[in-house]
Amino acid sequence: MGNLRTYLSEALVAISLACSISAAANVTVLPLGSGCASFPGYDNTTGIAGPLHVAVDSTGGEFDGFQFVPQFSTAVGGGAWGFMVIRPVANGTAAPEPSPMQCANDTLQAYLDMGFVGVRWQNLIAAGTPAESVFGFGLPDLPDPNYHLETYQHVVDGEIQPDAYLGAVNITTWGFNYQNFTETGEYYFARLLDHNSNNLATGEPLNPGEFTGYIKVTAA
Ligand SMILES: *[C@@H]1O[C@H](CO)[C@@H](O)[C@H](O)[C@H]1NC(C)=O
Ligand SMILES: *[C@@H]1O[C@H](CO)[C@@H](O)[C@H](O)[C@H]1NC(C)=O
Ligand SMILES: *[C@@H]1O[C@H](CO)[C@@H](O)[C@H](O)[C@H]1NC(C)=O
Ligand SMILES: *[C@@H]1O[C@H](CO)[C@@H](O)[C@H](O)[C@H]1NC(C)=O
Ligand SMILES: *[C@@H]1O[C@H](CO)[C@@H](O)[C@H](O)[C@H]1NC(C)=O
Ligand SMILES: *[C@@H]1O[C@H](CO)[C@@H](O)[C@H](O)[C@H]1NC(C)=O
Repeated sequence: MGNLRTYLSEALVAISLACSISAAANVTVLPLGSGCASFPGYDNTTGIAGPLHVAVDSTGGEFDGFQFVPQFSTAVGGGAWGFMVIRPVANGTAAPEPSPMQCANDTLQAYLDMGFVGVRWQNLIAAGTPAESVFGFGLPDLPDPNYHLETYQHVVDGEIQPDAYLGAVNITTWGFNYQNFTETGEYYFARLLDHNSNNLATGEPLNPGEFTGYIKVTAA
């Protein structure tokens, strides 16, 4: 039974990988630039692009359109660091209020309660350890990569698509990873699927249960 279950889940992962690879096969990226002028709704008199609507896209599942909320490293008034995550919404309950976002000072930012330093516009990055370049903020001083987030357009079968997508180092595909802890409840963190993001234990491109998608940026 155990073996069958393992086999089935591996087969499912293989199938979903095959699908995501073929779906993305003809997508190439076009960098829009590294400053806020490359974000939708840029105001050149203030140097700010915002408010921004930053949402999950093209997962082929129920989470398309979900926006991000902070998951602090410590539960309440956490401050220091954390991830920007999406949370499943139980049937009949309201979605959590998404964090306001903008681009200022050349950086994507979320308006967060950072504990003792107060509520402020906090820079967002994709950082962590190799294989875990996670969408978040104030991440501890871990080994590279530590990516500055930029916007890209997608070129599908040679056609430039109108929307802007969040990414870094010419990559806009993110993996969404399910977590469920007693203290935090259920959430998905997003990691950039870059050249060294294979699961360190299995060598597979995706973690168990992980699904892929884009993060679309539009003017709110
Ligand atoms: C802002 O954009 C307008 C219209 O595109 C342009 O005329 C103006 O020179 C720009 N101002 C700055 C400070 O770049
Ligand atoms: C959510 O609840 C409504 C009514 O309360 C029901 O009709 C619907 O099927 C439920 N959806 C899911 C996904 O459970
Ligand atoms: C703007 O960003 C630079 C470098 O990223 C930083 O040194 C500076 O403090 C930032 N300015 C503000 C007002 O946040
Ligand atoms: C990819 O795009 C090329 C044209 O740019 C087209 O000929 C080819 O059929 C496409 N492949 C897939 C798998 O869609
Ligand atoms: C991203 O792609 C552009 C061309 O579209 C290229 O000039 C640039 O060097 C690439 N950057 C990285 C980090 O690969
Ligand atoms: C999440 O974890 C809690 C306990 O930590 C458990 O009661 C709950 O069933 C879990 N939810 C899912 C969907 O597995």
